[in-house]
Amino acid sequence: MYFIANWKMHGNTKDIERSNSILKLSKLKKYKNHKIIYCPPYTLLKDFYNKVKKSRISIGAQNCHANSDFGPFTGSINSKLIKSTGAKYVIIGHSDNRNQGDNDKNINNKIKSALNENLKVIFCVGEKLNEKKKNLTYSILKKQIVKGLDKINNFENIIIAYEPVWSIGTGLVPKSSELKKNINSIKKILSLLRKSKKINILYGGSVSPDNAKDLLEMVNINGFLVGGASLNAKKFIDIIKKSIN
Ligand code: PGA
Repeated sequence: MYFIANWKMHGNTKDIERSNSILKLSKLKKYKNHKIIYCPPYTLLKDFYNKVKKSRISIGAQNCHANSDFGPFTGSINSKLIKSTGAKYVIIGHSDNRNQGDNDKNINNKIKSALNENLKVIFCVGEKLNEKKKNLTYSILKKQIVKGLDKINNFENIIIAYEPVWSIGTGLVPKSSELKKNINSIKKILSLLRKSKKINILYGGSVSPDNAKDLLEMVNINGFLVGGASLNAKKFIDIIKKSIN
């Protein structure tokens, strides 16, 4: 199981201490085989990596520039720079970034550049509320996945995070039937691409200690991408504990 903390634009050096209790937890036998990944802002990647490098916790970035080479891209960070911090993962295609102009083509380029640097990619897909209302969820997921993974042959280092946009930060989660249907759609789309038998699929969107167990009972998923609740170490720990019996 994967438990990924997406801190978004939150956190300073002192907040890295929040991982102390998670560090302890990650050493317990029961949790040893599960993956805990912190994705703080770029500014904390290196310090966070230094803090957890001797543990089983990994570090990831929240985005990267599509260009693998260094160049005149003021304010941007590419996968080489991310790699140099010690981070092993990168979130790509998050709806926050799609809202700020990321499209399927440049998400595809970002994924390729991250894979080139041997980063593992947490590739976010999901429908908006108006798309869900118009019954467009399947076609949106198909478009995002097919275009996002275009000309990528090896899915070994790709994890898909299904994040319905209407669920992010709202406290709303899909109904059981809906979640099942959409996760199955993702599996079907991936099998159409015939590139991987087994690809990990996570759910993200308002995951909390109160709904983690229910979500896992609804559908066969490989873990969670957690936003808001991951900023609170106790809540993040509770999500992990409730998910693993
Ligand atoms: P949330 O965010 O858990 O606060 O809904 C999830 C995400 O955006 O990855």
